[in-house]
Amino acid sequence: MYKGRCVYPGSFDPVTLGHVDLIERAAKLYDEVIVAVLNNPDKNGKFSIEMRLSMLGKACAHIHNVRIDSFGGLLVDYLRKAEASIVLRGLRAVMDFENEFRMAQVNRQIAPGIETLFMMTSPAYAYVSSSAVRQIAAFGGDITTLVPQVIITDIQNAYADAST
Ligand code: PNS
Repeated sequence: MYKGRCVYPGSFDPVTLGHVDLIERAAKLYDEVIVAVLNNPDKNGKFSIEMRLSMLGKACAHIHNVRIDSFGGLLVDYLRKAEASIVLRGLRAVMDFENEFRMAQVNRQIAPGIETLFMMTSPAYAYVSSSAVRQIAAFGGDITTLVPQVIITDIQNAYADAST
C-alpha cells in the first residue's frame, strides 16, 4: 500500500468496466484515488460532465476510498490543487503507448515533481473503450460486457433521447 493519493484523469465519456477495474486496483494501492473528469469546453463529448460524474459515482459506489471530481485547464495544476503528485493511467495495448508516453513527458517537463504511473489493463478489458461503447450504444447494440450494470439505462436513455 502506497501512502497518499493518486489522480486518475480522463474523459470517461462514459466510464467503462476497464476504468472501474483500474480504479478498484488503484484503490488497493493508495489511501485515496481521485477520479478526475476533464471538463474541456473545446471538446464536446456525448455525455455532459454532470452525467459523467453521476455515472462514475454509481460505478464506484462500492469503493470507499474514491473521490469523483472534474477539472479544467492543465492536469498538473489540478494535481497541485488536490495536493497529489501521482497521475495514474491505464495501458490497454501498444496502441496506447505513444500518446501516453507523450502526455507523461509533457507533464514531467512542465511539472518535474509529478510522476505518471501506468497500470496494465486486465486482459478481459484490453479492447474496451468509451468510443466503442458510444458506437455500439448508438446502434442499439449490447453493451452489457463493456460498462457497469448500474449505468446501462443511463446510456441507453441518452441515445433514446437523442433519437426522438
Ligand atoms: O480519457 P482521455 O481522453 O484519454 O484523457 C486524457 C486526459 C484528460 C488525461 C488529458 O487530455 C489531459 O490531461 N488533459 C488536460 C490538459 C493537459 O494537462 N495537457 C497537458 C498534457 S498533454
